[in-house]
Order: sequence, then structure tokens, then C-alpha cells
Amino acid sequence: MREDVIVYQLFESESSTYTYIVADKDSKEAAIIDPVLETVDRDLKLIEELGLKLVYVLDTHIHADHITGAGEIRKRTKAQTCVSLEAAVNCVDIPLKDGQELRLGAKKITVIATPGHTNTCLTYAFEGMIFTGDALLIRGCGRTDFQQGSSEKLFDSVHEKLFKLPAETIVFPGHDYRGHTSSTIALEKRFNPRLGESKTKEDFKKIMAELKLANPKKIHEAVPANLACGKPKDSRSIQPQNVDGIPEVTCEDVLAHAHHIESKKIRLIDVRRLDEFDGEYGHIKGAELFTLGPDLTNLLANGNKSEEIVFVCRSGGRSGSATAESIKLGYKYTMNMAGGMIRWTELQQPVQNRK
Ligand SMILES: [Fe+2]
Repeated sequence: MREDVIVYQLFESESSTYTYIVADKDSKEAAIIDPVLETVDRDLKLIEELGLKLVYVLDTHIHADHITGAGEIRKRTKAQTCVSLEAAVNCVDIPLKDGQELRLGAKKITVIATPGHTNTCLTYAFEGMIFTGDALLIRGCGRTDFQQGSSEKLFDSVHEKLFKLPAETIVFPGHDYRGHTSSTIALEKRFNPRLGESKTKEDFKKIMAELKLANPKKIHEAVPANLACGKPKDSRSIQPQNVDGIPEVTCEDVLAHAHHIESKKIRLIDVRRLDEFDGEYGHIKGAELFTLGPDLTNLLANGNKSEEIVFVCRSGGRSGSATAESIKLGYKYTMNMAGGMIRWTELQQPVQNRK
């Protein structure tokens, strides 16, 4: 591998997905390829540790087996998200087409359209390496039986485009299930049992037609989320602001979502003491009392980490601590109600059990 580039291969074990970080060593400009929502923290930490400037978030296709980290990374960095124009994703920053180039300092990533596994599949070429997503796997390839897949198109993509690249081109796949990490065009031409040079298009079509695979576990969740830049459907009813690392919402936000609190879509957890809950300021209808300390810690330890929770206290301090504690425990959609019951009362909103 060339000395003036940086390449990291990272693995997400639940979906056996490889995420790649590639960068130009001189300018430190970097791209991340196929990030997974669950491992965004790990990936961003590494980018920071390497002192890289993330410019692009690239998805090789609309994945069916995991939710992309693209939207989350864009929210937390200045990077632009990129996916195939064919995917018609409204929220994407740069819709890509065949032959397009993306600059990383003085170097470039070239987009090669490789449809077949899906109609949105792209391969990214960078400095003698190709990142093939599911078009070409090591001694294999992605399935072609859903998301406008076509074994005929995949055969052509691999033979007409990828196999025409220099023999020593390094192949980095989107997944591997057998522990391989990379291959080369020369090796895949010789040894790929589905797509290698010993196989005709008719052989390949027959192999793919006979696979009869079950649908990926996450397909119904992942595809709609990935068409929305990785925003899991209905993941959050309220969008909080990030205040010193703590997601925060206003009393007005909470009021606007009172129907979600009533229906328990959002849990409102009051972390004050019992004497306060039924004391000077009373409490909000639908609020549950779990006092900051053992009561709350116990609840959080055994709770559902994907639950949407708004924490409330007197003025927003203790509920801020509760939010921080929940995030530390892995909760994804918790937030602090700024200003607490003091602000709520100022807004002359109804309360219960006020003394
Ligand atoms: Fe895929």
C-alpha cells in the first residue's frame, strides 16, 4: 500500500460489515465508507485520534442488513453524505454517478457504478484500491434477489468494470463472513467461485437463481432508514439541541408532544424526591417518579435503551445528570428538559399534586 495514504479497516460484528476510513496523508482529508450506525462513536474517535478531517461519508449502496451511520456522522462533523443518484435519497448531500470524482487533498476517489447486487451499488476506487461494497466479495458476491438486483447486471459490472482494473488492485469488500480482509483483482479473477473467469454469465445466473436465501433480519428496518440517511423510522419524536454534550429540549417542545407522553411513546421521568414531586411545583401529568440515585440507576440498568425519555427535575440540573447517566449506559434517545418545573410553572402549564 502506498505511503501517502491512510487506510483503516473496521469491523461491525452483528452484520459482519467492514467500514473503511481512507485519507490523504498530506492534507489529512478523509472519507469514511459504509459506516454502521451502532459503531459511529468508535469510528469518529479513531478519525479524531488520527487527526483527520472527515470530508465525505460514502455508502456503497442502500444496505438491507444494517442502518448507515451517514446521517449521524453528518450531524456530528462537517462531512457530506454521498450515495448513488439511483437511490433517490432526498436527504443526501452529493448524489453520485458513474465516473464522478471526489477530491481528498490532491488525490481523488473515483466512483464506479457497479449495479447488480442492488441498482444503487457503487464501487469507490482510491489509489490502487477498490471498495466494492457487496458487488464483489472475497471469493463471493452479494445476492441479487431484491432491491432491483440483477445477476446479469452484476456479472457485467464485475467483468466489464472491476476485472478490467489492474491485476494488483486491492479489493476491500463490504462484508466478509469467513475472516478474510482483502483480496486482489488477480485473485478474484482466478478463484472467485461465482464470478471468476472460469464462469460464464449463464453459469452465474444459474448459481444466483439457486441460492434461495432468507431475507436479512433487519431489511424492513434498514432499507427505509437508509433511504432517509440512516434515520431509524420514528426513532425520535422530539429533536433535542446539544447543549454541552447533553441533548436538551425546552418545556415548549415537551408541551407540543404531550400526546406522545400520554400515549407513552415518550416517557417523562421526574428525577426529584417524592416530597418535591408532590410539593411546591407539583409534577407534570404522565410523569413517573424515579429519584436520581439508586432508584433511577436501577431503572436505567434494566430499561430499554432505545426508549425515548425526557428527564425532568426542579430546574434542569439533576435531570441533566440523569440524561448524562443514561447516555453513559447506552441510551440513544434520552434528553433533558431545560429549566425544569420552575420554567414549566412560569409558562403557567398545568401540574398535578401541587402543595
Ligand atoms: Fe448489501
